[in-house]
Amino acid sequence: MTETPPLHAATVEQTNSASRDIATTIHPYTNLKLHEAEGPFVVVEGDGVFVRGQDGKKYLEGLAGLWCASLGFSERRLAEAAYRQMLKLPFYHTFAHKTTDIGIALAEKLLSLAPVPMSKVFFVNSGSEANDTAVKLVWYFNNALGRPAKKKIISRAKAYHGVTVASASLTGLANNHRDFDLPIAGILHVECPHFYRYGLPGESEQAFASRMADLLEQRILKEGPETVAAFIAEPVMGAGGVILSPETYWDKIQAVLRKYDVLLIADEVICGFGRTGEMWGSTTFGIKPDMITCAKALSAAYMPIGAVMVSEAIYNAMVKQSEKIGVFSHGFTFGGHPVSSAVALETLRIYEEDDILSHVRRMAPLMQGGLQRFTDHPLVGEVRGIGLIGAVELVADKATKAPFDAAQGVGPFLVKRAQHHGLILRALGDTIAFCPPLIIQPAEIDLMFERFALALQDTLEMVRERGLAANALVS
Ligand SMILES: Cc1ncc(COP(=O)(O)O)c(C=O)c1O
Repeated sequence: MTETPPLHAATVEQTNSASRDIATTIHPYTNLKLHEAEGPFVVVEGDGVFVRGQDGKKYLEGLAGLWCASLGFSERRLAEAAYRQMLKLPFYHTFAHKTTDIGIALAEKLLSLAPVPMSKVFFVNSGSEANDTAVKLVWYFNNALGRPAKKKIISRAKAYHGVTVASASLTGLANNHRDFDLPIAGILHVECPHFYRYGLPGESEQAFASRMADLLEQRILKEGPETVAAFIAEPVMGAGGVILSPETYWDKIQAVLRKYDVLLIADEVICGFGRTGEMWGSTTFGIKPDMITCAKALSAAYMPIGAVMVSEAIYNAMVKQSEKIGVFSHGFTFGGHPVSSAVALETLRIYEEDDILSHVRRMAPLMQGGLQRFTDHPLVGEVRGIGLIGAVELVADKATKAPFDAAQGVGPFLVKRAQHHGLILRALGDTIAFCPPLIIQPAEIDLMFERFALALQDTLEMVRERGLAANALVS
C-alpha cells in the first residue's frame, strides 16, 4: 500500500467524499436516514487481509468484504488475468449458441469440482441471480414433466438467498419482505434449525433435528406433496446469523425430500470454494443437491460472477422444453462474461496450486479455538462456527439466553468499536459474524481476536453503564 497521507489531508478529503456520497448514492443494507447524518466509511486500498480507509488507517477485514474476498485484497494474478482477458476479448455473450473459450474452460472446471455429479452450468452475475434462476428452473422442470401443480419452494426462517424478487422471497428475514410486498406466492418458510435458540428444554441435538425433519414433513403433507417442488438451503446459514444445522439434520431432511420427490437446491454462495474446509459446504455436511448455486468466492470477489449447476435430470427436462417451445428464454447480458470467467478460472487455479483447502483446515482450529475463548464472557450466549466462518452471539442474560432489545443496538455498537480498533466485522442483529479471507495467517487470526476482545470489553462497559443486561455478571 502507499504511505499514509498526512492526517489533515485525509480529513479534508474525507469530508469532501462524505458530502458527495450523501448527495449521490443509495446504500444497500444501510439506515438511509442515519447515513445522511453520519456519511460513509470510504475504503481506498487493499493489502492481503487488510484494507485501508480514507482516514489513513489499516483495517483487518474480518468478513472478507461480504463473505467473499477469499484471496484477500491484493492478489496480482487475478488483476493480471482480468487485464489479459480484457486485451484479448473484453466482452462476448452466451446467447443464441455463442460462447467464449474461457467460458467453456470455466464450466468444465466447475463441473469437475462439483460435490455430486452435475450435468451443466448456467452462468449469472450474483448469488441473487443464481437463486432466481434456480427458482425458474424448478418451475420449468416441473412443467416439462407435466406436473404444473408441483411448484412451491420451501426455504427456512433466517435463510439468506439474496434480494431480487424471487431470491428475496426465499430469504427468511422479515426486513427483506417488509414493505417490499414479499414473499411472492408459492414460497414457504419452515423452522430455522438453530439448536441454541430453538431447541426445547431437555431436547437433545439429535431429537431437535428429528423434530425439524418432522415439521418439514408435516408442512409438505399440509401443502400437498403434489404441490411442493423444491427445498433450498445454505449448508451454513450466513446472513441469518452463521447458523450450523444440528447433528443428523441433513440426513433426516434429505430422507423427507426424497420421500416426497422434492428437489434440493444447495445455496453455496458463502460456503462454496473452501469456506468450511471442503470445497463445498455440501461435502462437509453430506448434502446431495439436485442444483447448486454459487457466486462470491468463485472469483474471489474480484469480478461479479455466479453459477447454477444442474443435475442431468433437470438438464434433460430443459432440453425437452426446447423441443416443445423452441428457445430457452432466460439469460443475462453479462452471464459468463469473459473477464469474470478468466478471473474465476484463475481463482480456481490459485485454490488448487496453493492448496487452499489444506490451509483452511490448518487455520480452522485457530479460528474456532479463538472464538471458543469468548464462551465464558458474560455477554456471550453462544459461539459457533466451522472452518473459517464463525459467530459470537451476544445476549442480555446468559442463563435464560434472553436477547437484548434490538433497538438498543448492542451488536452494531460492538461492530463500531471493532472498527475503531482496526477490525471490520458484521453485526447480524446481536450476532457478530467472522468470515475472514481464506488466506488469513495465524498472526492475523490472533490480531483479529485481540481487536475483537477490545471491542467486546467496550461493549460490556457500555452495557454496564446503560444497565442493559439482566445478567448478574454484567451488572
Ligand atoms: C447464501 C447467500 N445466497 C445468496 C446471496 C446473494 O448474493 P448476491 O449479494 O451476490 O446477490 C448471498 C449474499 O450474501 C448469500 O450469502
